[in-house]
Amino acid sequence: MRVLSGIQPSGSLHLGNYFGMMKKMIDYQENEDLFCFIANYHAMTSLSDGKALARGTIEAAANFLALGMDPEKSTFWVQSDLPEVQELSWILSNFTPMGLLERCHSYKDKTARGIAPNHGLFAYPVLMTADILIFQSDRVPVGKDQKQHLEVARDIAIKFNNVYGDVFTVPEPEIDEEVATVPGLDGQKMSKSYGNTIDLFTEEKALRKQVMRIVTDPTPVEEPKDPDKCNVFQIYRLFLDKERTEALRRRYLAGGMGYGEVKEELFVKIRDYFAPYAERRRELLADPEGLRRMLAQGAEKARHAARKVMRKVRKKTGLEY
Ligand code: ADP
Ligand code: TRP
Repeated sequence: MRVLSGIQPSGSLHLGNYFGMMKKMIDYQENEDLFCFIANYHAMTSLSDGKALARGTIEAAANFLALGMDPEKSTFWVQSDLPEVQELSWILSNFTPMGLLERCHSYKDKTARGIAPNHGLFAYPVLMTADILIFQSDRVPVGKDQKQHLEVARDIAIKFNNVYGDVFTVPEPEIDEEVATVPGLDGQKMSKSYGNTIDLFTEEKALRKQVMRIVTDPTPVEEPKDPDKCNVFQIYRLFLDKERTEALRRRYLAGGMGYGEVKEELFVKIRDYFAPYAERRRELLADPEGLRRMLAQGAEKARHAARKVMRKVRKKTGLEY
């Protein structure tokens, strides 16, 4: 089965990205035909600093590879190394009703927050559809926030297939309810744009500061606490197996445990969990040429798959004459 997903290279990496998407993708390499890319075209909707985009792209590659992405077992590339997706995006635009895009929450939320409503932001889900369909992806693991974009992709695929015959695989979204939304420091969805993240690769001091900033209620130390309403617990459990989660739950319910104590434990847990990956990441970033070579090979592999589909699309649509 072909599994595909992408991640934008904007900003640093947080626990929401890791548990919501990256970890799953990395695990998929073992048994599935995994396609994973760095969505740098998409990042242009929020980033117009060329140096920052280039740097972010290299860092995103290092992040994925450090966390375990293996270019031998998967296809891993940078979106813009395959401009074919732009051609498909245009073709698919002609099967995209305006209303479908106008209804997208992500567009509405962003413009409501004061981001200029330009065409890139509006057409974003069409490009995302092209990313998915150009590889005949069967499954697309994403966080809950991308669910609607997957519905758009399915709609467009079906519309196109209705006109030209069964060209595209209609993709299935995969949203893991367990970690559907990783909460941030304030209990809202963890997101770069909300400034409520816990970052993966950050200095020890900064990490500690982030963990200590997790919002908790004023229940006194000695009283029992409700783990299900606690942001610290919701984040901590991502690192624990069932048994350990239950043990922590019992400590909450028993009382006598302060939030400071559990935050300190969580800080150590996160630091130790990511320390070996941080080391590997430093090594990778020290050799940007090596990273570029790996990405170029990945793009070559991806292009091979994309070209096959594009030949069919060009033929069916009459672009091949
Ligand atoms: P951000 O919201 O910080 O800008 P992105 O939009 O770049 O994050 O998300 C990259 C990937 O990580 C997507 O697949 C997204 O669904 C997932 N993701 C981001 N934040 C979370 C979260 N808090 N919980 C679960 N998944 C998340
Ligand atoms: N829109 C996704 C995000 O912000 C990134 C993305 C771009 C993507 N193209 C994709 C995800 C195709 C899955 C499939 O997180």
